[in-house]
Amino acid sequence: MATIAVIGAGSVGATTAYAIIASNIVEEIVLIDINRPRAEGEALDLGDSTAFTTPTRVFAGDYADCQNADLVIFAAGAGQRPGESRLALAEKNHAVLRDVLAQLMPYWRGGLLLIVSNPVDLLTYAAVKITGLEPSRVLGSGTILDSARFRYALSTYTGVDARNIHAYVIGEHGDSAVPLWSRVRVAGIPLDEFCHQKGIAPPDREVVTTAVRQAAYRIIERKGATYYAIGLGIRRICEAILKDQKSVLTVSGLLAGQYGFNDLSFSLPTVVGKNGRGIALELPLVAEELAALRHSAAILKAAQERLGY
Ligand code: 2OP
Repeated sequence: MATIAVIGAGSVGATTAYAIIASNIVEEIVLIDINRPRAEGEALDLGDSTAFTTPTRVFAGDYADCQNADLVIFAAGAGQRPGESRLALAEKNHAVLRDVLAQLMPYWRGGLLLIVSNPVDLLTYAAVKITGLEPSRVLGSGTILDSARFRYALSTYTGVDARNIHAYVIGEHGDSAVPLWSRVRVAGIPLDEFCHQKGIAPPDREVVTTAVRQAAYRIIERKGATYYAIGLGIRRICEAILKDQKSVLTVSGLLAGQYGFNDLSFSLPTVVGKNGRGIALELPLVAEELAALRHSAAILKAAQERLGY
């Protein structure tokens, strides 16, 4: 069993802790927040819930308590306001990340670092640069949520369990995310062939792509933030790591020449296990997908340069 530190006890951090507790995969969670009473309140509430799970110690702590954390989750910083893009948070959340890492690193004996705050790809890249950690040990939640949204949309459309749908969104977790339509498989069958067999028209790709890219905006407009789906997405990444499941998940990380990209972090389907990011897969892409990925990479590269990298 393991210890996880969650830095940032806002809606995403607290929901993540809740999802992790409910799945009985850790024995200790430390919550850290600049607003200590908030972390304490969440820890008390979460602690009460552990009477219904396997024994889990949950407490509000300090960076010294991260010493033995197997996994540190960075969920601190600002969230988007209605209509605001993830990239607009870059400067503000980069400063928060620097500050947090400066406090964490002197204590932490090492493990894996999972970046969740936005813009997640830029912050994942920055975390590798700031800490000097092995790039395989620094993951970003990336497009795990975009892929989930894509699979959910396709599941609703086809009437097939999302767990039988293989579909990935790669690139930036943001407005330029790239759904890989050419690689969608429903129970192993290419999407158009499945639709033909079922006697339905294939889905409108533009409509679904826009819905996937705009999902967070729609939610934030209505309730101010997104946290349930990302909480479960992070739990899924934690499970793959802590149980060394070698699951293929679209997480963000420093690229090593995939599709010709280097010195950049974005999501690709990646084998995730106890050592963090394993091989990041290069699925065969059609020309439009490759062009869309290049566009996504250019946006991230420009944003990276604006941050001084
Ligand atoms: C999401 O996609 C806001 O990045 C967050 O829900």
